[in-house]
Amino acid sequence: MLKKGTELELKIESLAYGARGVARVDDFVIFVDGGIPGQTVNAFLYKKRKGFGEARVVEVLKQSSDYVVPRCEHFDFCGGCRAQHLEYAEQVNQKRQQVENIFRRMAGIKDIKIDTVVPSDPYFHYRNKMEFTFSNRRWLLPDEPENVEKDFALGLHIPKRFDKILDINECHIQQTLGNGILNLVRAVAKENNLKPYDVRTHIGFLRHLVLRFGVNTNQVMVNFVTSYENTDFLQPIVDALLEKYPKITSIINNVNTRKGDTAHGEYEIILHGTPTIEEKMGELTFEVSANSFFQTNSIQGEKLYEIALEGADITKDDIVYDLYCGTGTITLYIAKYAKEVHGFEVIVSALEDAARNAVSNGIGNTFFHKANLDTFFTQTGLVKKLPKPDVVIVDPPRAGMHEKMARHLAKIGAKRIVYISCNPATQARDTRIILDRGYTLTKLAVVDMFPHTAHVETVAVFTKSSE
Ligand SMILES: C[S@@+](CC[C@H](N)C(=O)[O-])C[C@H]1O[C@@H](n2cnc3c(N)ncnc32)[C@H](O)[C@@H]1O
Repeated sequence: MLKKGTELELKIESLAYGARGVARVDDFVIFVDGGIPGQTVNAFLYKKRKGFGEARVVEVLKQSSDYVVPRCEHFDFCGGCRAQHLEYAEQVNQKRQQVENIFRRMAGIKDIKIDTVVPSDPYFHYRNKMEFTFSNRRWLLPDEPENVEKDFALGLHIPKRFDKILDINECHIQQTLGNGILNLVRAVAKENNLKPYDVRTHIGFLRHLVLRFGVNTNQVMVNFVTSYENTDFLQPIVDALLEKYPKITSIINNVNTRKGDTAHGEYEIILHGTPTIEEKMGELTFEVSANSFFQTNSIQGEKLYEIALEGADITKDDIVYDLYCGTGTITLYIAKYAKEVHGFEVIVSALEDAARNAVSNGIGNTFFHKANLDTFFTQTGLVKKLPKPDVVIVDPPRAGMHEKMARHLAKIGAKRIVYISCNPATQARDTRIILDRGYTLTKLAVVDMFPHTAHVETVAVFTKSSE
């Protein structure tokens, strides 16, 4: 009989979705934080539920042959790169198995097979955007004395702690230049006695530092999110940044006076350079503003779009819908292969970015529609005025499609549906709905956009069964 609060010897069999080790005692499954396949560990069982338990590694008794020394000094506390101590090829292999298991279980496809797996190259320094947080509650490391200075931090949240920030010196998944900027901003802010924002009392000035990079254009945006407007306070940091990194393209100040802890401001001030930076994908150039969505791994993003394009198998006569189009990057990327592409999205500013990027890239066959897709196709008369699509691409948020949208998708009657997802669990759920309505799953691909982290990106292609 397993007891919560005790230590157990466990053999880790695999890595579950969420990047936690999986061990079994008889038929009882235990998710082990920090465990990787091939290890035997002593683990502390901190939670016991009806069907499963949760534990954390206390000691590794036998090391896995796939273990690698994590590159990051912050690995033990940060929680961002949970699988950095697992050899990269095995991380990708485990992600493939996770997707297969989820599709077997949730979509009921017993003989599921992943056709393509695309590892990330490079698998360090791949992110084009990082959001760091300022805080007056720095997370103390175990070897630090209690009386050490702890009222200024610039870094990342400690897992499950909304108020504690781990000071980050070097993050290995952001661009190398980002680490220089991060450390310079911290040093000059401290020198000038600028106060970080306190999320409990809502007093203080500096809230977030958001860095964006055009990986294919070498452009850089530095965005300070502050709780009120005072550009004089920021000027010493701006001067120091421009002296050391004169090629910074854009320095922005987003002012967020609300209590909600978001990096989006109510308005923004340009402190240096342009209000946007450019990023290239294939032949296209996109303008990216401080708050617009853009794929965070530019190089893998292009590979993802190529896989979607191949699955869509579009001809010059085809009408294509791109549902949940965001800033229209997919819409524009595929436009030259189709007769018309219609993008649908609920956020107006994203649609404005999309329309602007269509003009700047000289694309004339894309149309963008403001639509809440939870109800748009079932409740709006507007749909009748649109041409019927031959191919539909969907890329919903993590929650997947609204059930009404998923049910209606098959009714639209496209010959192919390409479903891109950042959450295989909701994608597998929606897959069942699509399969039950006359489609066959003809391709499933895993594209690793986020090495070392728990995230998985997938592309599923469905073909109308009668074809
Ligand atoms: C994963 S992103 C899509 C990204 C885009 N395809 C790209 O590659 O840049 C999902 C998008 O769905 C949008 N969205 C979320 N809920 C929606 C809804 N109910 N109706 C329409 N769009 C929605 C979000 O605003 C977001 O832009």
